[in-house]
Amino acid sequence: MTHLQEFGKVEVTVRATIRPCQKEDLPALEWMGLYTRHRNVIRDAFEAQERGDGLMLLAIAAEFPIAQVWVRFGQHGRKSLAYLWAVRTFHPLQRAGIGRQMMQAAERILARHGIERAELEVDCDNQDVLGFYRGLGWHVVDRGDNDCFLLAKNIALHKPARTTGAAKQQRQADARP
Ligand SMILES: CC(C)(COP(=O)(O)OP(=O)(O)OC[C@H]1O[C@@H](n2cnc3c(N)ncnc32)[C@H](O)[C@@H]1OP(=O)(O)O)[C@@H](O)C(=O)NCCC(=O)NCCS
Repeated sequence: MTHLQEFGKVEVTVRATIRPCQKEDLPALEWMGLYTRHRNVIRDAFEAQERGDGLMLLAIAAEFPIAQVWVRFGQHGRKSLAYLWAVRTFHPLQRAGIGRQMMQAAERILARHGIERAELEVDCDNQDVLGFYRGLGWHVVDRGDNDCFLLAKNIALHKPARTTGAAKQQRQADARP
């Protein structure tokens, strides 16, 4: 008799709110020690968001960030280019559709900010994850820096930003709680 037959199983629905990172979220972003060594990176990303140069998009359930997608605006000095990073779903909740919804939410926000193209990098030793991005319309365009794949996607249905200043102000407004 298998464990499933003997003990049964649990199936749950997790409801999470997608929103920008707030200062109070920063300790929890270390994911119980997993990213403690990246505390400075987390803080720098938050400061970039505060300046309107970035976004830390979180899915929050029970006040815990169960998934993340971070954005850096103005990659390579190009206002219409954004860079996505820290794309991750808390391990026990992976393969439940959360990552896909986070990426779709991030894309909607990029479109609203007049971003025409987005890029991200995948480590060469993490090639399995390419299937996740391909399923969302991303394409490998190059070998990026640091022995990784560079992926890109054109962002559809954007409203052109009125001015640089206005786009930046919009990002700062979006990041406010
Ligand atoms: C990659 C990651 C963010 C995906 O998040 P997720 O919440 O598990 O993704 P979803 O459940 O929405 O997956 C959607 C589909 O993408 C594909 N997919 C997801 N993760 C995959 C993986 N690791 N390898 C291959 N395909 C994957 C699957 O087709 C999946 O659908 P299915 O399993 O129902 O067929 C998550 O696996 C993760 O956090 N991984 C560790 C960190 C990481 O490697 N991040 C990427 C850095 S570039």
